[in-house]
Amino acid sequence: MRIFLLALLILTSFGQDNTFLIKKRIDVGVLMCKNSSNLSSSVGWQTSASAITISMDRVNREGLLDGVDLNFIFLFDDCIESRAAGLASKLLTESNVSAIIGPTCNKAGLAVVNLAAYYNVPVLTWGLTISSQFINIERFPTTITLVPVSKTVANAVHQTMIEFGWTEFVYIFYEDEKCGYFREDLEAITSESNHTSLTRTVQLYENTYANFQKQLGRLKNVTRIFTVCLPEDGQIKRWFMLAAYDLQMTNNEYVYLFAGPKSTAYQQTSSSGEVVGAWVDWSTTPDGRDNEAKKAFMRTMVIVATPVASEELAEFKKDVIDKMKLPPFNCTTECEAKEYQEAAEYADQLHDTVYLYAMILNKTIEEDGVGQIANGSFMVGKTAGVVFEGMSGLVRMNSEGYRLPNMILANLDSNATQRTVASMDIDTDSVVANAHRLSFLLKILGFLRFGGN
Ligand SMILES: *[C@@H]1O[C@H](CO)[C@@H](O)[C@H](O)[C@H]1NC(C)=O
Ligand SMILES: *[C@@H]1O[C@H](CO)[C@@H](O)[C@H](O)[C@H]1NC(C)=O
Ligand SMILES: *[C@@H]1O[C@H](CO)[C@@H](O)[C@H](O)[C@H]1NC(C)=O
Ligand SMILES: *[C@@H]1O[C@H](CO)[C@@H](O)[C@H](O)[C@H]1NC(C)=O
Ligand SMILES: *[C@@H]1O[C@H](CO)[C@@H](O)[C@H](O)[C@H]1NC(C)=O
Ligand SMILES: *[C@@H]1O[C@H](CO)[C@@H](O)[C@H](O)[C@H]1NC(C)=O
Ligand SMILES: *[C@@H]1O[C@H](CO)[C@@H](O)[C@H](O)[C@H]1NC(C)=O
Ligand SMILES: *[C@@H]1O[C@H](CO)[C@@H](O)[C@H](O)[C@H]1NC(C)=O
Ligand SMILES: *[C@@H]1O[C@H](CO)[C@@H](O)[C@H](O)[C@H]1NC(C)=O
Repeated sequence: MRIFLLALLILTSFGQDNTFLIKKRIDVGVLMCKNSSNLSSSVGWQTSASAITISMDRVNREGLLDGVDLNFIFLFDDCIESRAAGLASKLLTESNVSAIIGPTCNKAGLAVVNLAAYYNVPVLTWGLTISSQFINIERFPTTITLVPVSKTVANAVHQTMIEFGWTEFVYIFYEDEKCGYFREDLEAITSESNHTSLTRTVQLYENTYANFQKQLGRLKNVTRIFTVCLPEDGQIKRWFMLAAYDLQMTNNEYVYLFAGPKSTAYQQTSSSGEVVGAWVDWSTTPDGRDNEAKKAFMRTMVIVATPVASEELAEFKKDVIDKMKLPPFNCTTECEAKEYQEAAEYADQLHDTVYLYAMILNKTIEEDGVGQIANGSFMVGKTAGVVFEGMSGLVRMNSEGYRLPNMILANLDSNATQRTVASMDIDTDSVVANAHRLSFLLKILGFLRFGGN
């Protein structure tokens, strides 16, 4: 009897060990850009892929996917539409993936969500995929995105114009895969508006000081309110504001509203762990104009997603660069290159996308079993009510697979410290039905009367 009991005990404990060891393997396709020089600073593999590792560390710490072995299959579409479609169909039919993370650009992304809608597999896009098409659940019922789409940002700009009583403005932008989509939504919302009109849109073809001066000079007598959308990387906004300063366009008659789905606001964070003001020239040969640039930035406001602490973000960016050298990426020689020493601008979104996927996977397995984990339309519903603190700020999802962005309007106080002027919790539940009936919660806290009116 005793021996029998012992044997039984050994057997059951073995049994438990076995079920513990044999994890359910789930394959996830990841479509990224690896060989596209103009996209590498925003979404390049060399400077962002390890955000997946960092995110999975958090997932494992929290025990979100204990019974699961997530296996990431990396393929590179380089944001080329046809390649994205081809690779996605490979992932769906040959690798039998349960989900696809990426692509990171609009046209490539739209090609993939079309296919995925047919196969009913979830796609989680991030990065530059800001086209408002992505949240059209009728067309793309399997798409999940935590990128604040351009429609929501356009609405935030419109609301700002109303609050300040500005009746017209000019949109000035550089087409970098996001600002053009944003123009479409700005045009749509202002054409219906009873409060404000978009008098002109000016596309910049070169991000140089000389071109900024030329274009701003032409607008000097035309308008005083500018909505500006420029690439996030480097010192472009600084040059833009210096050009305005040199044209005497930073007195209290002028206002510049920087807007975009993501903006680094008034601080630049570096993978070396540094955090400096947007007005600081941190090139190896500084031009010595930091003070003038700072004065110019005093005439600006920004609309940004609720930011995370700069120190935390800088730490994360450093981690991204460090972890690229480790398995499974082993990017040692290539990632030594100078251009890969700064984490990609959107690496934080990749981090949050993987975490979001882990959360809804957990929810699906717990509530419905593994049978539904590759059911795209089903998984989209699982995003309902998901809320977490991510690297891209507070992430709140609705039941249609997209983010309800929490945005703020901020400017600099007299000490050049960022302060929040208004907070906007954007409730996009009704955005598909009617883009203009978003409910904004706009709290004007402290208020600078700018030159408008
Ligand atoms: C990278 O892109 C360039 C041109 O865009 C091309 O000439 C080169 O063959 C590509 N390299 C790889 C490894 O795909
Ligand atoms: C889901 O997450 C909880 C912790 O939040 C964990 O206890 C549970 O085991 C997870 N479920 C799966 C299937 O991993
Ligand atoms: C594909 O994956 C699903 C769920 O992960 C599984 O049920 C199915 O058997 C797989 N098919 C093939 C051909 O591997
Ligand atoms: C990147 O470069 C390619 C070719 O050089 C060009 O077709 C594409 O429009 C560029 N993309 C952006 C976002 O500038
Ligand atoms: C603009 O005003 C007209 C007439 O008062 C009204 O019917 C319409 O709904 C208003 N549009 C918006 C977007 O508020
Ligand atoms: C703008 O207006 C000022 C004064 O009204 C005038 O001197 C100047 O020439 C104008 N500049 C342009 C570019 O029209
Ligand atoms: C990365 O390096 C580790 C050991 O340093 C090795 O085991 C692994 O196979 C490498 N992975 C790849 C994809 O080369
Ligand atoms: C996928 O989920 C939908 C509900 O969203 C359900 O109607 C459908 O039967 C599911 N498909 C499979 C294969 O279970
Ligand atoms: C600016 O800094 C000074 C000294 O640190 C402080 O007394 C003052 O209140 C600050 N002003 C604002 C607007 O925060």
